[in-house]
Amino acid sequence: MLRTPRLTLIPLRDEHLDLEYELDSDPEVMRYLTGRGSTREEVSRAHARRMATEPGFGFWMGFAAEDFIGWWLLRPPNGPDQPKTDGEAELGYRLLRRHWRQGYAREGSQELLRYGFEQLKLNRIFAQTMAVNTPSRATMASAGMTFARAFTSAEEYDDPVAGADQGEVEYEITRERWFETAR
Ligand SMILES: CC(C)(COP(=O)(O)OP(=O)(O)OC[C@H]1O[C@@H](n2cnc3c(N)ncnc32)[C@H](O)[C@@H]1OP(=O)(O)O)[C@@H](O)C(=O)NCCC(=O)NCCS
Repeated sequence: MLRTPRLTLIPLRDEHLDLEYELDSDPEVMRYLTGRGSTREEVSRAHARRMATEPGFGFWMGFAAEDFIGWWLLRPPNGPDQPKTDGEAELGYRLLRRHWRQGYAREGSQELLRYGFEQLKLNRIFAQTMAVNTPSRATMASAGMTFARAFTSAEEYDDPVAGADQGEVEYEITRERWFETAR
């Protein structure tokens, strides 16, 4: 379990499935991911994949007091757009719409960066999103990450979401940079 001034970050468990559904069924939350709300069956399959992450990595459910805010992830590189490099991990986040623009994404992300560098001894943490996902890019920058590259996804999508033609971006922070700048 990880803590920030406002958030308690709890490793994902089976009992969190309904909260994942609340999040993923909102089409606005999924706008730059699948472009539509997920079905229960899709969320169940996603939950099983999320639970299967390597020890030390995974998904953390964030709560402010009793209130579910969203999740954060830290996981080893996976998929065709992420070269498998030891000592690296991907950061991600997804928050309930009613909690946007209150600094929660930044707050949880900074705690996962701290955890990744201090506890897991990672060398580099990166995050990827669609180039047009302004809130996600702003969150990466706000957490201290900088632009690393623009790329075209090698993932195959049946039904690309609006803006996919603009490609993807990756932001990063290295271990050295984090220790230089962490307060
Ligand atoms: C991306 C997301 C997690 C941001 O969450 P959030 O809690 O609103 O972000 P924060 O309040 O912590 O803001 C972080 C930074 O982003 C900026 N930001 C957030 N939303 C923004 C928006 N719509 N437009 C411009 N900037 C925005 C904030 O101003 C802040 O920057 P600052 O520290 O320089 O002021 C949220 O919009 C979300 O869950 N989106 C849907 C899921 C998603 O797209 N996830 C990423 C997929 S890769």
